[in-house]
Parts: sequence; C-alpha cells; structure tokens
Amino acid sequence: MMGLPKSGYALQNNFGNFIVQSTAMRSVFLFLLSCCIVGCARQSNEVHQLNTRIDSLGKELTHTYKPGLGEFMSGIQVHHEKLWFAGQAQNWPLAYFEIGEIKETLDDIREYNADRPEVRSLIMIAPAIDSITHAIQQKDPQLFKSSFVLLTNTCNNCHFATHHEFNVIKIPNTPPFSNQEFKAQHP
Ligand code: HEC
Repeated sequence: MMGLPKSGYALQNNFGNFIVQSTAMRSVFLFLLSCCIVGCARQSNEVHQLNTRIDSLGKELTHTYKPGLGEFMSGIQVHHEKLWFAGQAQNWPLAYFEIGEIKETLDDIREYNADRPEVRSLIMIAPAIDSITHAIQQKDPQLFKSSFVLLTNTCNNCHFATHHEFNVIKIPNTPPFSNQEFKAQHP
C-alpha cells in the first residue's frame, strides 16, 4: 500500500522530469540550430565579401600598367649605346653592368610580352650576349669590338625576321648622355 502512491509519485515525477528534460533539450537543440543558421549566414556573407574582393583585385590586375615590347626595346637601345662607350673606354665594370641590364630587359620581355609572337625570335640574341660577356670578362678590347658588331647585327637580324627591318641599329658615334662619365674613375 505504501508502495503505490510512492511509485505513482515516482512515475509522475519521472514523467515531469522527462517533460522538463525534453523541453530543455529542445531549447538546447533550437539554440544550436539558430547558432548554425546565424553562423552559416555570417559565413556566406564572408564568402560573398571575399568574392567581391577577388573580383575587384582581378579588375585592378587587368588595369595594371605593363610596358610594351617597343618600350623595352627603347630601354635596350640606351644600354646598347652605353655598352659601346663603356667598352671603348675599357671601363669593364660599367660594360658588365650594361650587358646585365640588357639581359634583364630580355628576361622582362619574355615575362611580360609572352603574347607577342615576335618574342619567339628572341633566342637568336643569346650567342652574341655570351660572346660580349666573355670579351668583358677577358677585358679584351678587340674581342669586345667584334662581339659588339655581332650583337648589333643580331639586333637587325631579329628586326628583319619580325618585319621591323625599318628599325636599323648601328654602332653609335657620340655618347648618349652628357651627364655620364664612361671613363673608369678608379682604373
Ligand atoms: C625578337 C627579336 C628582337 C631582337 C633580338 C631585338 N629586337 Fe628590337 N625590336 C623588335 C621588335 C618586334 C620591335 C618592334 C616593337 C614594337 O612593336 O613596338 C623592335 C623595336 C626596336 C626599337 C624601336 C623602339 C621604338 O619604339 O622606337 C629599337 C630602338 C630596338 N628594337 C632596338 C634593339 C636593339 C638595340 C637590339 C639589340 C641589342 C634589339 N632591338 C634586338 C624585335 C627585336
């Protein structure tokens, strides 16, 4: 007799607990679900912002200034000229610097003007560059002169091959700039 009300109470109590627990679980579940929804919304907002940023960076890149082949060639023209006067003055460190500038510009052409079909003919200049580099390293004025003639002829051969034969390069007569000394200062 004593057991019945107790177990009835226990049953009721268990049922009450169950309801309390299931309500608590539902709240936790709803809370977690809303966290997910808010989190997902925030995440998709961040993805959207990143996409917009990528788009605008892409637009910036297409509008970035890139020198054309003619501009690189004008740079090479100046270094070709300075190289001659450095070699004539037997200023080998300056000559080495100038041929280095020409090599760097040729690398830039390969990188930035890869879309120009003429760039495929650029390889023909390699033997002349090697020859003049060797002459500079040997500090040999005669070899420098013959290598410079070879270099200049190669410039013109490539202009010819790429239908720019009207751009004729020759050995210069006068130094290009009056404000630069070509003679070595510490021979
Ligand atoms: C790929 C082979 C090639 C080689 C090697 C080459 N050039 Fe050119 N050069 C060109 C082409 C192509 C143009 C025309 C570029 C353009 O469309 O603006 C040009 C243009 C030029 C121009 C005219 C630039 C201007 O806008 O007035 C000069 C100067 C020039 N080259 C100098 C040289 C010199 C100096 C050398 C050698 C040290 C040389 N080039 C080697 C292909 C070559």
